[in-house]
Amino acid sequence: MKMKQKLEVTSSRPYSIFLGVGLEDLGAYLEKELGGIEHLLIVTHPRVKEHYLERLINGFSAFQCDVLVVPPGEEEKSLERLSKLTSEAVACGADRHSVVLALGGGVIGDLAGFFASVYMRGIRFVQIPTTLLAQVDSSIGGKTAVNHPSGKNLLGAFYPPLVVWTDFSTLETLPWEEVLNGLAETVKHAVLGDAALFSFLETNQQKIIDRIPEIYQELTSRSLQVKVRVVMEDEKEKGQRMLLNLGHSFGHALETEAAYQGISHGKGVSIGMIAATYLAEARGLITSAEVKRILDLVKGLGLPIQIQGKDPEILLHLMEADKKNQKGQKVLILPDKIGHALVVRDACDEEILQAWNKVIIK
Ligand SMILES: NC(=O)c1ccc[n+]([C@@H]2O[C@H](COP(=O)([O-])OP(=O)(O)OC[C@H]3O[C@@H](n4cnc5c(N)ncnc54)[C@H](O)[C@@H]3O)[C@@H](O)[C@H]2O)c1
Repeated sequence: MKMKQKLEVTSSRPYSIFLGVGLEDLGAYLEKELGGIEHLLIVTHPRVKEHYLERLINGFSAFQCDVLVVPPGEEEKSLERLSKLTSEAVACGADRHSVVLALGGGVIGDLAGFFASVYMRGIRFVQIPTTLLAQVDSSIGGKTAVNHPSGKNLLGAFYPPLVVWTDFSTLETLPWEEVLNGLAETVKHAVLGDAALFSFLETNQQKIIDRIPEIYQELTSRSLQVKVRVVMEDEKEKGQRMLLNLGHSFGHALETEAAYQGISHGKGVSIGMIAATYLAEARGLITSAEVKRILDLVKGLGLPIQIQGKDPEILLHLMEADKKNQKGQKVLILPDKIGHALVVRDACDEEILQAWNKVIIK
């Protein structure tokens, strides 16, 4: 059963998010809403192309369509790939009127979005998220980027899409490990901004594990609404938007230490959120009963709450590179109750080490 829904993001460049729509209906929407489109550039991964390109293209008989295929992997969010996309786009005659369609997960959304933001000084683009993480998180908010040897997402732009077009049926082929990455961000959204979503996740744990489609529609819609709300209050991340980084200061340190190989983003966020929760508990910000609920939900969904054999001192040092830090001071996001979080600027290294020690199995 498809639940069709439309949400409006009223940022500096407003756009709509459509949920529960079909890939094959995007062509008719673009023709009706935008008119005058002659050329589409679809950027996608091989596996996503295999499963979904035909359905998408069926709706595009009115347009010239070219497909640019990018190998999977975080390493493809690079300047080298951006340069290759540029050559390919020029070769197929893309001009200022072309529209980029990002068909895939967060890697494709970030890469194709950044490409669209700089190609001929900016051409239009559409997000068509096909992973849970992209549906609940990365396709919303207008952040696009590529990585650089000096840091993740170091080169990027705030570049909102024309529209986000979410077909839930794409989740059917998504491997469970990838689903877990999206679930980690969903739990994060619930902890930082929606106590009712948290209860919904608690109640429906088994249905989530059983991958019941209706439950995913509901959790996606509620989860992305947390992000939409926060982003609309602070589009350019000057304050409140930092809350969305709950778990990420700790999580990025784990990912960097493993050179983005040994630990997925979702697992990093999951363990990072637990470390932040322990730190909040040690400060008396959150009750032990709420800490237990967070631990139980994360564990119950099959996400990790601990990690083996890491050196807390090294991880503490890696946290110094966090983009949120200001004037050498670590900026952390801590939950003070389920459904609410705070930006904390005065955490000392000792407290952070204690939190690391609680999530590291010696
Ligand atoms: N811009 C933002 O606000 C934001 C927010 C969070 C994360 N991100 C970025 O998102 C990226 C991670 O995104 P991700 O978790 O979606 O991973 P991903 O884009 O790497 O996709 C994961 C894998 O799933 C495959 N895949 C995608 N859709 C599929 C489908 N429907 N069926 C089968 N396989 C499918 C892909 O080919 C890929 O191999 C990171 O680069 C991260 O920095 C960006």
